[in-house]
Amino acid sequence: MRTIVVSNRKGGSAKTTTAVNLATELAKKYSVLLIDFDTQGHASIGVGSVPSDDSGAHSIFFGKTLSENFVPTVLDKLTLAPAHALFDVYEYSDLRGVLKNRFKKEKISDFFDYCIIDTAPTFDALLKNSLEVADVVVIPFVPHHLGVIAVGQMVRAVYQMSTQMGANIEHVGMLPVMYNPHINEHKESVAKVESAFGKSKVFKPIGTDIKLSQQFESGEPIVLMHKRTKGMKDYTRFCKELLKRIE
Ligand SMILES: Nc1ncnc2c1ncn2[C@@H]1O[C@H](COP(=O)(O)OP(=O)(O)OP(=O)(O)O)[C@@H](O)[C@H]1O
Ligand SMILES: [Mg+2]
Repeated sequence: MRTIVVSNRKGGSAKTTTAVNLATELAKKYSVLLIDFDTQGHASIGVGSVPSDDSGAHSIFFGKTLSENFVPTVLDKLTLAPAHALFDVYEYSDLRGVLKNRFKKEKISDFFDYCIIDTAPTFDALLKNSLEVADVVVIPFVPHHLGVIAVGQMVRAVYQMSTQMGANIEHVGMLPVMYNPHINEHKESVAKVESAFGKSKVFKPIGTDIKLSQQFESGEPIVLMHKRTKGMKDYTRFCKELLKRIE
């Protein structure tokens, strides 16, 4: 099993949109677990479920197993561990290694080919738990000045986790989102990320597509829609590009 964490400390950078479409696209062929580790629960909504008030992925932090929280989704091969909407990370003092321990004890890797984790825009114990199990980190970013700064901050967090906490992250890739090739700032921002981290680390961009917002209302990820849209094509292409890099 390869675990792909979708993360950026900056809010509204299409983490959830990316996690949902990546998980669904992979689940057309592979067995996939999507963990919604953001208590907002938006990834759960994106695959036709709802965040729960009294159970969900976060209940591993108070002694539950991960798998008892699994629920089915819009696709047979896609299993969801939904968010626990009322989980409060500040009520717990030491949450280190809990997800890693669950993965090991429940032999999660025997049941899935891929695990996708959607994370919240904070650098807290939940993000650290996710990075502890990550093989791959995808950092979606909006191509403007603060977006570029946020990529640097996220890369530093990944590096810190690798050196101080022994995380074993093999690949880090940056995905420009809501990209418009006619806007100079967008082109320049992507060029800055490419020159800072290497061209090979930056994926082809995802354009702006209103259907990517509307998919959350319908509970149907865009990569499953019958009518081909720009957002769908972009995310399908991204998934292929990602697999090529990490396989
Ligand atoms: N390529 C796109 N084109 C148009 N709208 C988009 C695109 N990607 C994401 N959006 C919209 O932008 C908003 C933010 O996206 P999303 O919720 O995926 O970001 P996020 O990083 O998960 O946010 P948060 O930090 O709150 O978790 C949403 O309303 C989403 O529908
Ligand atoms: Mg989100």
